[in-house]
Amino acid sequence: MIPQLEGSQPPPSPLSGRDCLTLAEFTPEETVLILDEAIKIKTLQKSRIPYRPLRGQTLAMVFQKPSNRTRVSFEVGMYQLGGHALHISPDEIQMGKRETPSDTGNVLARYIDAIMVRTFDHQELEELASAADVPVINGLSDTHHPCQALADLLTIREEFGTLEEVKIAYVGDGNNVAHSLTIACALTGAELTIAHPEKHGPDQKIVQLAEKLGAAPTRTEDPQEAVNGARVVYTDVWASMGQEAEAEERKQKFAPYQVNSELMSLAAEDAIFLHCLPAHRGEEVTAEVIDGPRSRVFDQAENRLHAQKALLYLLLG
Ligand code: CP
Ligand code: NVA
Repeated sequence: MIPQLEGSQPPPSPLSGRDCLTLAEFTPEETVLILDEAIKIKTLQKSRIPYRPLRGQTLAMVFQKPSNRTRVSFEVGMYQLGGHALHISPDEIQMGKRETPSDTGNVLARYIDAIMVRTFDHQELEELASAADVPVINGLSDTHHPCQALADLLTIREEFGTLEEVKIAYVGDGNNVAHSLTIACALTGAELTIAHPEKHGPDQKIVQLAEKLGAAPTRTEDPQEAVNGARVVYTDVWASMGQEAEAEERKQKFAPYQVNSELMSLAAEDAIFLHCLPAHRGEEVTAEVIDGPRSRVFDQAENRLHAQKALLYLLLG
């Protein structure tokens, strides 16, 4: 016998059913809503108060690349919210090889309430998302890493109490992490400068998108200029997943962009250091900086959990 539906349902979340592929699908107000929710969810978790609004819901996590933070924080986050997460390794679905991203999305949506995907080509993610009528979350593509940027914003807001006009210097490769940080800053009023070697700046299309959303980042090839007076100094690996063949060549090119104590000494007195991790000590950052008193990299990693729980709750609510 089919049970009767219960009378009163909570009102749907304003982000119900939406995707998160780039962060640019959200308005500034919606971005703040996700961060506010993340702080509430973090407080409940820290107080050990159970909060299980996603009981009975399942998240598929499709990985085409390796991961520590993304895999563990999504899986644990779903569990803490009362739901379940399913890890699908690169050997299983083999998206784009064994079947098309569109067929993958279509089929998963018949079993699953939301899909998180970590892949190479961002277009695969778009194809999967347009075929799947459930929320699709980008867990990193070659062009975007929106969940990382949400955790970055949360960490900065917790540190300084605001994001408005906080000066952020991103030093290094204009990659997926830099792109999502660019969009995140445009949406929240943080002031971003990106220092990068010639030909390794952020994609022009992302810069234009940021301009439309709020503000384009300042770009320079001079790391000292970027870090001067900054309250956040951020870097990432010089060769991202999929660029391993270029790693040696990049080491030469990026050497002047290492975040070390000398560079950090140009930042504001209360400046913090951020890195999405995994990090290569002695390359993009010295051990002295990443393991030093200004580093917030493990708070930042922890905030992936809280920010993503808020996102899952709002997209599935
Ligand atoms: N920062 C981040 O996404 O880490 P993982 O690659 O370990 O998931
Ligand atoms: N830019 C890095 C981020 C890893 C979390 C990469 O794509 O490998």
